[in-house]
Amino acid sequence: MNEKIEALKSSFDSELKKIANMVDLEALRVNYLGRKGKVTDALKGMGSLTDEQKKTVGRETNELKTAITVALAEKLEALKAQELQREINALPEFDISMPPDMTRGSYHPITLVQRQCEQVFKSMGFTVEDYAEVVTDYECFESLNIPKFHPARDMQDTLYVSDGIVLRTHTSPLQVRTMLKQKPPVAVVAPGRVYRRDSDITHTPMFHQVEGLLVDKHVTMADLRGTLTAFMREVFGSDTRIRFRPSFFPFTEPSAEADISCCMCGGKGHVNGTTCRVCKGTGWLEILGCGMVDPEVFKAVGYDPEEVTGFAFGLGVERIAMLKYGIGDLRMFFENDVRFLGQFA
Ligand code: PHE
Repeated sequence: MNEKIEALKSSFDSELKKIANMVDLEALRVNYLGRKGKVTDALKGMGSLTDEQKKTVGRETNELKTAITVALAEKLEALKAQELQREINALPEFDISMPPDMTRGSYHPITLVQRQCEQVFKSMGFTVEDYAEVVTDYECFESLNIPKFHPARDMQDTLYVSDGIVLRTHTSPLQVRTMLKQKPPVAVVAPGRVYRRDSDITHTPMFHQVEGLLVDKHVTMADLRGTLTAFMREVFGSDTRIRFRPSFFPFTEPSAEADISCCMCGGKGHVNGTTCRVCKGTGWLEILGCGMVDPEVFKAVGYDPEEVTGFAFGLGVERIAMLKYGIGDLRMFFENDVRFLGQFA
């Protein structure tokens, strides 16, 4: 073999032995195989050789290149393996004999209350439904007798997905959906998330409602009162104070809101001499809106208001959870602090 090539090979071998990191390895590669490297250099001065000699030198040079390339690749693998081993060695000791953390998760208080609501209404013969959170303007407003430019539609309150498509601002679109696909009698509840552009101590941009609808012949306001009172006694205990106030919703007539005595101040309106911040001093917390289904809504879904009557209601799940568990700040439901959530295990 050409002496020059042989010398190159052995100098490369001894340099390679000393390499201890990838940066130096790359420098070595450039030094030998680079465009201005030693191997290219060795081919210079071939002009004086015979054709036969040129062939031999060319072949030997190529063999040298291959040998160097292979040696570099092997060294790279070895360096990588060393690095990995160093990282593994640096890891903290892991004791596989330690028992795993067996702390159990718990249901979110909203889930617990939602399920209880479902349970109580199921026991009264209602079915439980679920449906989309993204609904059409028609379902959310128009069909519920909330015409264009009604204050309830204000951009301040509604989150629009696109033109004519909204994040439902209440669960009431369920009423229309259900009646469009089903003939009376109807007795249905539907829990779910609703969205409004609202954020303060008693309002969050997303919260939960449980919608209820019952339609049949001869349904009266007394049935509404009886059903909701039975529900609230079941959820809050038989000595909870409940009151109904006349109210207004475009899709019910007459309409009412129901309040329950405030959990924070026990209905007194103040705590240690300061105004109760949960009920704002009134001693009552509004937990639902309700009413008799407006004949206009029946007409929109093709029910005959001369034939059937019905009631509807929308419960605020967070409000119920606050009352049940004595939680003073609505925001705690959404912060997901495990110290808070763990208390519901
Ligand atoms: N959808 C109303 C609200 O979100 C509540 C409601 C439901 C009122 C059903 C009457 C009947 O405030």
